[in-house]
Amino acid sequence: MKVDPLTRIVGHMAVPGDKSISHRAVLLGALCDGETRVTGFGRSADTEATIEAVRALGVTVYEHDDDTLHVFGQGLRGLVSPGRPIDCANAGTLVRLLTGILAGQNGQRFELTGDASLSSRPMKRVTEPLSRMGAGIETEDGHLPLRIDARQLRSITYELPVASAQVKSAILLAGLFATGETTVVEPAPTRDHTELMLEAAGVMITRREKSVTVQPAERLELSEIEVPGDFSSAAPFIVAATLVPGSELHIHGVNLNPRRTGLLTILERMGGRVTVYNRRRIGGEPAGDLDVRSAELVATTVLGPEVPLAIDELPLFALAASCAHGNSRLRGAEELRAKESDRVEATVDALRAMGQRVLGTDDGFRIRGVPTRPRGGRIESRGDHRIAMLGAIAALASADGVEIEDAGCVAVSFPGFFDLLDSLRREAAE
Ligand code: S3P
Repeated sequence: MKVDPLTRIVGHMAVPGDKSISHRAVLLGALCDGETRVTGFGRSADTEATIEAVRALGVTVYEHDDDTLHVFGQGLRGLVSPGRPIDCANAGTLVRLLTGILAGQNGQRFELTGDASLSSRPMKRVTEPLSRMGAGIETEDGHLPLRIDARQLRSITYELPVASAQVKSAILLAGLFATGETTVVEPAPTRDHTELMLEAAGVMITRREKSVTVQPAERLELSEIEVPGDFSSAAPFIVAATLVPGSELHIHGVNLNPRRTGLLTILERMGGRVTVYNRRRIGGEPAGDLDVRSAELVATTVLGPEVPLAIDELPLFALAASCAHGNSRLRGAEELRAKESDRVEATVDALRAMGQRVLGTDDGFRIRGVPTRPRGGRIESRGDHRIAMLGAIAALASADGVEIEDAGCVAVSFPGFFDLLDSLRREAAE
């Protein structure tokens, strides 16, 4: 697909419901006693895999309309093994959180599979702590397929070797089924959607600066969850409006959980002009509307603790930094190599193909900023939705446009992405 440059980005828009929260709403809804109504559900290939997974486990999910679901929970211990593998497709959040849940379904066996990308991603990071809790889990040399032999779990205190919300969540969810309290210690704060939703479901959670403790639970109850807009889906448009001169874009109803909005802090340091207004809470999460104006950026350095707060936006940071004055650096982001693709390599290849001056390092990027438009060119998405969107956003700010190989993979998180781009193009022409 070819994406052409855009003269300015103006108007009002909203983005689909948050992917992380949508996964959790369906998974926790499945464990609740009774019905949970999910509104603002972020429909995508990833979250549809979660609906199918809980259906395979005996949970009825009624799809009232595109973004409203009714999940008829089977209770904490009510999931039933389908007796065949459950396909987690491309969804890392699904496979890791579900492993924690299934490990606690005492007396049953489950098998989890996924596509080629998910099958190449590391799973030991969840199977190791869950095995310590007493679950029987086999992997294929640390990868999918996972075979889970669910047993009575013991509580543990576990120090995460990597800052990962997926791993933290898997352990906390398994902790619901453990004999005593379970504590996860984090090297740096990561997104806390699981903690917030468990608390809303009536679970006892104790949060400290560097750790979270969950008590075993008897029952969960949610009734209603409203999902705010996905900051990670707003982020490409935030960067686009920042880079394309003469822009003024409003994005409404976006999740602004401070553990997700690292990109805003980074852009602010770089001279970005993003204003938050109408701050409110949506579904127990901080949210608001954004006013994004174009800005000249200056270089910055992003280090370790900031990485988890912007983990899915770091390719976009590299693009913004490559158009800034001065040399920028990202360090402490080796986790980027374990995403849907090796995002250090994929980002560097894509940005260089568009004329940008970026080098990959073991744990991030070195970026030589040149404050002009990217030239444009042809990039490979590597089947990674965030890289395809990176190419499209760079295209809007570019001189010649960008041809994106396998652009369809945006549907993994944001099926309406290109339609939204088209509507911004119509707005710009008015
Ligand atoms: C997610 C956590 C992050 C993020 C992913 C979604 C989640 O992964 O990259 O897109 O929903 O918990 P890690 O926790 O493995 O870094």
